[in-house]
Amino acid sequence: MLLEVEDIHVHYGKIAAIKGLSIEVEQGEIVTLIGANGAGKTTTLKTISGLRPLTRGRIVFDGADISKMPGHRRVLAGIGQSPEGRGVFPGMTVADNLHMGSYARKGSAEKELAEVYELFPRLAERKNQMGGTMSGGEQQMLAIGRALMAKPKVLLLDEPSMGLAPKLVQQIFSIIVEINRRGTTVLLVEQNAAQALSIAHRAYVLETGRIVKSAPAAELLDDPQVRAAYLGSGADMTVEDQVAAEKAAAAPDVTRADGGPPPDGPAEGDSPS
Ligand SMILES: Nc1ncnc2c1ncn2[C@@H]1O[C@H](COP(=O)(O)OP(=O)(O)OP(=O)(O)O)[C@@H](O)[C@H]1O
Ligand SMILES: [Mg+2]
Repeated sequence: MLLEVEDIHVHYGKIAAIKGLSIEVEQGEIVTLIGANGAGKTTTLKTISGLRPLTRGRIVFDGADISKMPGHRRVLAGIGQSPEGRGVFPGMTVADNLHMGSYARKGSAEKELAEVYELFPRLAERKNQMGGTMSGGEQQMLAIGRALMAKPKVLLLDEPSMGLAPKLVQQIFSIIVEINRRGTTVLLVEQNAAQALSIAHRAYVLETGRIVKSAPAAELLDDPQVRAAYLGSGADMTVEDQVAAEKAAAAPDVTRADGGPPPDGPAEGDSPS
């Protein structure tokens, strides 16, 4: 097991945000954590990356107990995080933002840089542009790229699709799949539950600081309770659905296959022959 979070409790002052949460992530997996606003998703990721201390429980990464390890050492150990709200350095160029992701690592990062530019050609085109003037979607790409520069064994992604147009959402999800295919394990937090479940191997459902369900992602996509709570109101389009919908929208008009009336319909009183 690459990452084991065992019965952790996390507090903000006296308020318990995480109340005995356990999750496991296997090498090579995409695991997603879904849940409503305030459920504790961001807190869970921050606790894994060392930005929040835990009050009970432990975190084991790559065989070692890292519960008390400071955050910067966790980065070196192989935990990469692309934070909620992106955290791009606005006054630094795209290239410098990316280099910040690898500054703590020994040796050259040219290979990682080339790989990030290959995954995100837009970042390569804009390498001299200031981070703060990149669009929302581009800043999201930059945040993920910067996390990849540290060569993480596991990449923690907090709401990578937040605020992005549907087409860009789809692109970000495809890139996450590609990052995983190239060997990086992914722990993904998403409000866009349907799409997260459509690319993940396994999923956990988080409610007010506790895991209430865990299952293969495909199973949760069909779970009536999960559908009602997290996949409602048009958000239940998978990447495949969206691609199909876009293709259909782009295709020229075709004759209705169901034999229905043409758009203007038959005149009133006309009887079918
Ligand atoms: N800095 C903080 N101080 C006090 N309470 C906090 C702090 N950060 C988070 N909380 C509380 O902890 C709980 C979990 O918050 P968290 O940000 O982890 O939720 P989330 O699942 O990521 O929500 P969202 O989907 O809105 O991002 C919430 O009740 C939140 O109000
Ligand atoms: Mg959050």
